[in-house]
Amino acid sequence: MRVSIIVHHMKKNTRVIHPPGVVLPADNRPLVAPIYQSVKFTFDDSLQTESFLRGERAGFFYSRTSNPTLRQLELLLAELQGREDCLLTGSGVAAVAACLLSSCRQGDHILAFVESYGPTRYLVQHLLGRYGVTHTLLSIEDRAGIERVLAGTPTRLVIFESPTNPVTKIADIGHLTAHARQHGAMTVLDNTLAGFHNHGGCAVDIFLHSLTKYASGHGDVMGGAIIANGPIISRMRKDVVSLGPTLDPHAAFLIQRGMRTYFLRYERQCANALAIAEFLVRHPRVTRVFYPGLASHPQHLLATQQMRDFGAMVTFELAGGAAECDRLADALRYFAISASLGSVESLVLPSRLLGGKEFTREQRTASLIDEGTVRLSVGLEDVGDLIEDLRQALDKAFAP
Ligand SMILES: Cc1ncc(COP(=O)(O)O)c(C=O)c1O
Repeated sequence: MRVSIIVHHMKKNTRVIHPPGVVLPADNRPLVAPIYQSVKFTFDDSLQTESFLRGERAGFFYSRTSNPTLRQLELLLAELQGREDCLLTGSGVAAVAACLLSSCRQGDHILAFVESYGPTRYLVQHLLGRYGVTHTLLSIEDRAGIERVLAGTPTRLVIFESPTNPVTKIADIGHLTAHARQHGAMTVLDNTLAGFHNHGGCAVDIFLHSLTKYASGHGDVMGGAIIANGPIISRMRKDVVSLGPTLDPHAAFLIQRGMRTYFLRYERQCANALAIAEFLVRHPRVTRVFYPGLASHPQHLLATQQMRDFGAMVTFELAGGAAECDRLADALRYFAISASLGSVESLVLPSRLLGGKEFTREQRTASLIDEGTVRLSVGLEDVGDLIEDLRQALDKAFAP
């Protein structure tokens, strides 16, 4: 290293900027990969630097373009989702925005859905609309509409979710991808709720994830991922490096740490969610429960064909409408009233805090969000405690 050669000439105020290097012997390594919390990387000389910049040799140079801590997480997530490559972003929404901006050009048409995450709809309807990209917004259940639009309007991409948030509708992924492929449209699945181990076998072109949810798992860090085969990610990486929604190495490290317990957490949260859904189905104040793992879910069969497990979001309806929802949310002790989902702690959102306020009457009907809708994100607490909490809060919420 250059600095160690000239160490005897260094003044102390130079030394603090060029501290002693510590090199691990080749046969000695940390069990947990270190965080490369460095914006810059250097080579021994300018020829090697130029060779790297021309893509002729491996290495790292500037962290907005690539960083070893991010690369390790990218490789892990791509492998789990069953695709060749991954591109990390600073939030889930940044992954959605970067994917859409990089994939579309003026005059393109996008097929999107009423049941999609609010900011995704905003990007499609408003932001991309300003750049001359048109769209059609359907319900994910509208199979005939999907076929009609894909056959009748040249479409650049179809962006969708499954299960949908909050009422856990299951998209028929085989139907969607077959019709999209037939008509030359790319499919983009925001797979945040289903996780990295689900849907990889489907013919989806691009997966999006908010790493803020199940991946990090502890509600303390945000991130996003775009996962697809190599050529798609290489093309996108060029654009995204210039858009700049980079994930910080420390955030990548925390997400990587979260991933070590991903399967344990996801499986236990699903088991807790199923037990809670079964409790709610039997409760006299609950008129309807949405959870794809319930045999009574209208798309349970499709869900079992497409997914290994069904996620930790349970949504239900209360007979007493918005006021009963509020009383329930306020009375719960272990479910915090808060945004997001998929972390270790349980959360609740009563109807007044669920999205879709901008929907037309027709879209609102399709969304299935009602005055009495309550969304739970089920965490890792003891399931008996969670059920007791719901039981006491439902008693308090019911004001005859
Ligand atoms: C399905 C889905 N996609 C994307 C996002 C956005 O992720 P982030 O909050 O990390 O930007 C969310 C957040 O709730 C989500 O539920």
